[in-house]
Amino acid sequence: MKKYLVYLSGDYLNLALEELKASLEAEDIPYSNMELISQIVIFESNKEPLVAIRRCAYTHFLAELCFIGEIENNKIDVQVLTLPNLEEKKSIRVRIKKIGKNKSNFSTSEMEKTIAKEIYEHYLNHDFEVDLINADYTFRGICIANKLFVGFELYIQDKKEIVKREPGKRPVFRPGAMKVKFSRSLVNLCRVKKDSIFYDPFCGGGGLLLETLLLGAYSIGSDLDYRAIESSKVNLKTYVQKKYELLVADSRKLPIIRADAIATDPPYSIQSSTHGEEILSLLSKFLEEAQSLLKKGSYCVFCSPKKNQPEKIIDDFPSFSLKTIIDTRIHKSLTRRIIVLVKNSD
Ligand SMILES: C[S@@+](CC[C@H](N)C(=O)[O-])C[C@H]1O[C@@H](n2cnc3c(N)ncnc32)[C@H](O)[C@@H]1O
Repeated sequence: MKKYLVYLSGDYLNLALEELKASLEAEDIPYSNMELISQIVIFESNKEPLVAIRRCAYTHFLAELCFIGEIENNKIDVQVLTLPNLEEKKSIRVRIKKIGKNKSNFSTSEMEKTIAKEIYEHYLNHDFEVDLINADYTFRGICIANKLFVGFELYIQDKKEIVKREPGKRPVFRPGAMKVKFSRSLVNLCRVKKDSIFYDPFCGGGGLLLETLLLGAYSIGSDLDYRAIESSKVNLKTYVQKKYELLVADSRKLPIIRADAIATDPPYSIQSSTHGEEILSLLSKFLEEAQSLLKKGSYCVFCSPKKNQPEKIIDDFPSFSLKTIIDTRIHKSLTRRIIVLVKNSD
């Protein structure tokens, strides 16, 4: 059993944590003793979680936890946990970031030197060189108040890849399009798996479909507005060569009979129209249909403005159990409430 260290994005911490757990579940990675400390998560697993962490939107890095430090009386007490087997004559670097309000008196470079000393003592005769730019091995850590957590880096998020897919970079921009990270986190919450059938019944310009296609799902999108379907077509073929299905259809009468996972962003009557239907009534009619598509254990994720209290309708659908509610403040006048439902019967 190894210990892992994950550094979450602080933007939406609740969402980041739920997304992490959902992604581990989607990739069948068992985990235990999960602990959230400020923006970091520590957990144990007997299976390497890289595949799950790579798909997370709100995770900065994954590392195998190697050192825990306590900063007291102007000294850093370092406890060495297990260290990976590394090749000799490689280059290494240690990178530490301080987060939170009560920052320690030690500078990050002092902490990095302390950890580097421990590394050299452990890997005697390895002839490691320091390379701060292009190291073969990176030890990455976070200091929160007087606690230090440092691990062997397995993955760090490439932000440039995300930016390329942002709504403003797509060939067709549609008002109300969700940011890439948010879209990705919603599809992670529905635990979509490679080769499974994903469905978005309010697909708009195809933001969620794109994220599921990149995860290897077979994706189906529908929208009442044919212009949304046309823009999805153009947008999707710009980024993926995979097969998908797009249909003009009303979510109150779904055009398909089976899906393995649903995640969707129904209209809020702000930037995208409900076509005259009251929001909660539209959501109820969609859930009525959605419950017949999914089998036991499948997830249905949707969001709506918090002020509409979308959770009020859930009791009308006993075949769904409420797994989580996550509130995310988008701006002064919009807090998006994410509802995660799981089908509890066939
Ligand atoms: C908020 S947008 C979806 C945005 C999408 N998540 C994205 O990032 O591009 C909501 C979509 O729901 C569609 N819509 C509204 N009422 C509908 C209905 N009854 N059935 C299907 N689609 C509907 C709208 O045309 C709009 O494209």
